[in-house]
Amino acid sequence: MGEKVDKNPEKINLMFDEISSYYDKMNDFISFFTHKLIKKSALIFLNIPKNSKVLDIFCGTGDNTKIIQKIDKSITVVGLDNSKKMLEIAKKKNSEKSDFILANVLNMPFLDCEFDYIIETFGLRNVEKRELAIKEISRVMKKGGYFLHLDFNKNNSIISKILSKIFNFTTFVFCKILKIDFKNYDYLIKSKDDFLSAESLIEEFKSASSGKLEFYKKKGYFFNTVCAVVFKKSN
Ligand SMILES: C[S@@+](CC[C@H](N)C(=O)[O-])C[C@H]1O[C@@H](n2cnc3c(N)ncnc32)[C@H](O)[C@@H]1O
Repeated sequence: MGEKVDKNPEKINLMFDEISSYYDKMNDFISFFTHKLIKKSALIFLNIPKNSKVLDIFCGTGDNTKIIQKIDKSITVVGLDNSKKMLEIAKKKNSEKSDFILANVLNMPFLDCEFDYIIETFGLRNVEKRELAIKEISRVMKKGGYFLHLDFNKNNSIISKILSKIFNFTTFVFCKILKIDFKNYDYLIKSKDDFLSAESLIEEFKSASSGKLEFYKKKGYFFNTVCAVVFKKSN
């Protein structure tokens, strides 16, 4: 069993504001420069049609907007996050086309059924009331729309467990090298280790959305240590 992780929303918000200035650099180092490749691969796997309007929830520093714009300029992305400082960086990184909204995923300022495509990478596990977030995702998604979730995937394979331990150790080492307070990254490690398997997540999506968000397809990375799961909203 993973250690119980404190996901108090105010603390989480403060933490992301605090780490925003070095969040991108740390992501590069701790993933050995693979996180953007994985995000790109998952977005290609989602297969977003031309001229779509995509909502990127928990958008952080706006990596996904940048990647999608490189894949296909005709796609419009709206990024949403509740950390002011993460969004400031997202706006700087996407100066040409920036549509970023400061809001909480638990209460999004959108009409029902507004988006065909909703994506989230490494965000949902930071939410205490995950079921509410899933209901809100389901609410703003059009019938027949798709939702992409990308995050660590708890699984029992030995190789995945070893990779996860290596990741935890290198994160600690990079914090020391870059003189970064380990407490925030200790949270990220614990929240990763405490998170669900793709299978449990699929069950949770189904029950929290009253059966509307159904599993569509999935793709694993690094021996399934990270997994992209696509859900479809039933008609
Ligand atoms: C680990 S970062 C992921 C950022 C980005 N998606 C990526 O893959 O690099 C998680 C993000 O979720 C945001 N977040 C956490 N809880 C949130 C909430 N309830 N509503 C909106 N954003 C939230 C944080 O501010 C942070 O930017």
